[in-house]
Amino acid sequence: MDASFVKTPEIQKLLDRASGVNESGGNPRLKAVLRDLIESTMEVIVRHDVSESEFWLAMKYLADSSGEIGLIVPGIGLEHFLDLYLDAKDAEAGLTGGTPRTIEGPLYVEGAPLVEGNVNLSTDPDEGTQVLHMTGTVTGPDGEPVQDAIVHVWHANSKGWYSHFDPTSQQTPFNNRRRIKLGSDGRYAFHSKMPSGYSVPPQGATDQLMQALGRHGNRPAHVHFFIEAPGYRTLTTQINFGDDPFAADDFAFGTREGLLPVPSRQGDSAYIAFDFQLQRASGESDEGFSSRHRASAQAQEPTEPETETV
Ligand code: BEZ
Ligand code: FE
Repeated sequence: MDASFVKTPEIQKLLDRASGVNESGGNPRLKAVLRDLIESTMEVIVRHDVSESEFWLAMKYLADSSGEIGLIVPGIGLEHFLDLYLDAKDAEAGLTGGTPRTIEGPLYVEGAPLVEGNVNLSTDPDEGTQVLHMTGTVTGPDGEPVQDAIVHVWHANSKGWYSHFDPTSQQTPFNNRRRIKLGSDGRYAFHSKMPSGYSVPPQGATDQLMQALGRHGNRPAHVHFFIEAPGYRTLTTQINFGDDPFAADDFAFGTREGLLPVPSRQGDSAYIAFDFQLQRASGESDEGFSSRHRASAQAQEPTEPETETV
């Protein structure tokens, strides 16, 4: 049997009815996308002669793994694909240049304290790891310092665990998470306890899938950023440490050329100088974040900018 079976009138009629394309109510875009999605699934079943047992095993995996969907999507390359697709559409529209975008990942939390100055991101002591000092500028396409920029920064601790998602529940809320309000010179500076790379939860759904694929679930140590400023496109990116053993083998495909600085390690400290360049926005709708659902929490610190200095 070949995939032309899916094109028979009986199956096509089934697809039309299942997706509601001939019904007057509902959402036409959802109908069109879902019809194609079901049809593609049917084609995969026929092409690989998927047995009933295999099909239901896959359905059970999907049902059981929903809590790790934010890990599975990057793990199978789909989140990176979205970046490549956005890049290709930008290139088609003549929008090039600036710091490359890369995946957000599932571990951002809204509501981090808004701070100014040379900022300490780490509330918790995290003994025995180096202190990371990161500095640089945020400029626009002509090298102009961007005005009123806010840099959202978040990273893991030295065990590779993120506050709000730490299985030991040992971290203070918003540890290693801040929103930094920049001055008119577009300069930023922060220091924090050096993160380690992230690994997916052992024996979890993502780990099981990675093992079944003969892969691993590790990411190199990295620091995430959203950078927003009026008149510019919000940048979602991250730097990955170029000297990490997983720098060239990130399970989530988040490492990209231009985003792999090597920290200069000197005793208890490590230094990274990294400049960001934003693209100019064509209008207000071009400036904002995607409406992806994100975790949120209440900041315990004041919401007005407070100045933290070294
Ligand atoms: C992370 O950024 O830490 C991450 C990204 C994708 C999957 C898992 C973790
Ligand atoms: Fe991360």
